[in-house]
Amino acid sequence: MAARSDRRVIVVADPAELASRAAERVLARIAENSERVAICLAGGSSPKQLYSLLVTEPYRSRIPWQRVHWFIGDERFVPANDPLNNMGMARRLLLDRCAPASNIHPIPTDTGNPNESALRYARELESFYGAEGLRPERPLFDIVFLGVGPDGHTASLFPDDPALEEAKRWVVGVPQAHVAPFVPRVTLTLPALGSCREMLFEAAGSDKRAILTRLLAGENLPANRARATGETVWLVDKAAVPENLGDR
Ligand code: 6PG
Repeated sequence: MAARSDRRVIVVADPAELASRAAERVLARIAENSERVAICLAGGSSPKQLYSLLVTEPYRSRIPWQRVHWFIGDERFVPANDPLNNMGMARRLLLDRCAPASNIHPIPTDTGNPNESALRYARELESFYGAEGLRPERPLFDIVFLGVGPDGHTASLFPDDPALEEAKRWVVGVPQAHVAPFVPRVTLTLPALGSCREMLFEAAGSDKRAILTRLLAGENLPANRARATGETVWLVDKAAVPENLGDR
């Protein structure tokens, strides 16, 4: 597999097209892998439309649910049934409707603190992967979904936070979020998120335009540092991109 890829930005009309293009990309990645598939989901509100779409036809029947495993890129340190819990949202909209329970891999939050959760999740990921060290030719995930926050954070990797510099551990605790909701977080690190065949960012709506302008100008922000060992794709809708940008 190639070294760190460049990013491809695909501009779509609106959130509905964004969700259907993302769904097609999921199916394409699944089709490329005839064995066990690993998908790392994102939290926040951006992927909600995609999750709701995947339980509808024709997508639902095209997903081989028995061999697809679902992970989450970051979690808010709140109970699993708290409305703020990222995996809770993905479960309600998508996973609990279709996925076998043993294929759902939430970040545990019933621990003493975020670091303990991070350790437990790292062990779970390592045992799924079957090794302690990530190898570029054998990515951990088939596809990793990410969103971007107003400060350029992605997952729970915030600007200037030490978690961003983590080069060895796969998962770390983040004691303080830099944006709402202000609860501690647990996040996969850049090396773990980047170990994938495809990294797919989703950003829609005019609220994202200011941060996308900065990111597309190449500012050194977490979302710009997240790159796949495979392909990195940004799906953005027209309202989110600065005018006259087009595809790039
Ligand atoms: C979280 C997320 C976070 C999110 C971005 C974008 O726990 O909040 O994982 O990284 O993806 O903040 O959030 P929206 O999709 O809600 O804009």
